[in-house]
Amino acid sequence: MTSLLIPKVIGHRGAKAYAPENTLSSIRTAADLGVEWVEVDVKLTKDGVAIIFHDDDLDRTTNGHGPVKDADWATISELDAGSWYGDSFFGEPVPTLEQLLDTVIDLNLGLNLEIKPCAGREVETAEVALDIATRIWPDDRPPPLISSFQHVSLETAMDMMPEWPRGFLMDEHLENWQELVGYLQAATININGNTTKEELVEEYMEAHKPILAYTINQPDKARELIRWGVDGVFSDNPDVMLEELTTKH
Ligand code: G3P
Ligand code: MG
Repeated sequence: MTSLLIPKVIGHRGAKAYAPENTLSSIRTAADLGVEWVEVDVKLTKDGVAIIFHDDDLDRTTNGHGPVKDADWATISELDAGSWYGDSFFGEPVPTLEQLLDTVIDLNLGLNLEIKPCAGREVETAEVALDIATRIWPDDRPPPLISSFQHVSLETAMDMMPEWPRGFLMDEHLENWQELVGYLQAATININGNTTKEELVEEYMEAHKPILAYTINQPDKARELIRWGVDGVFSDNPDVMLEELTTKH
């Protein structure tokens, strides 16, 4: 397993508080803010194109409608994924995974690629994403952290690229987390920082792996989590977290 150097602050969907999430503008904004790593979500269009997108449906973050799984790339590539956020982002496209990787590499950022499959496409999404990422990602850079809430997606990533680190994502606490982290040979434990409790963080620390908490936008909450033993946070406003966690003690 590659040794991991994960920063204390990871830009969530780029820098979601300042630019439309999961777009190239959001990634560039994160880089401008001094963020070292970004997290994005990857899923498949109806015709199997890997895109950077969070929701199951197009409606919230584009001018399109309906499920992503029913829309092909020809349709999604024409959508505006920026205007919903602000007029200055008019025409911002939904990026493909290839475009995202090229941008992240150009900006010299680290990456957490979250496999976010539409229901029923857990294996296929991981296969397509890993196939592309392993082709594009330079060998001389630390590999991306591949995370997912879907255990079968992580299992697929493990089969395809065992040496790339995996992040075990939990929303609610799972009683059998230790067994799953062991089976999936996860490198990090990624938890919901807004619902977790100190005693649960203490339990996760028994695995001696970095613990990353999402989505933390309040300095007080970040400080509390770090005090409990969390190693890093995903944040929509990573500049605020950087100021809090890297310049004050
Ligand atoms: O990977 C951390 C976080 O992004 C997980 O939740 O829903 O924002 O993708 P979500
Ligand atoms: Mg995510």
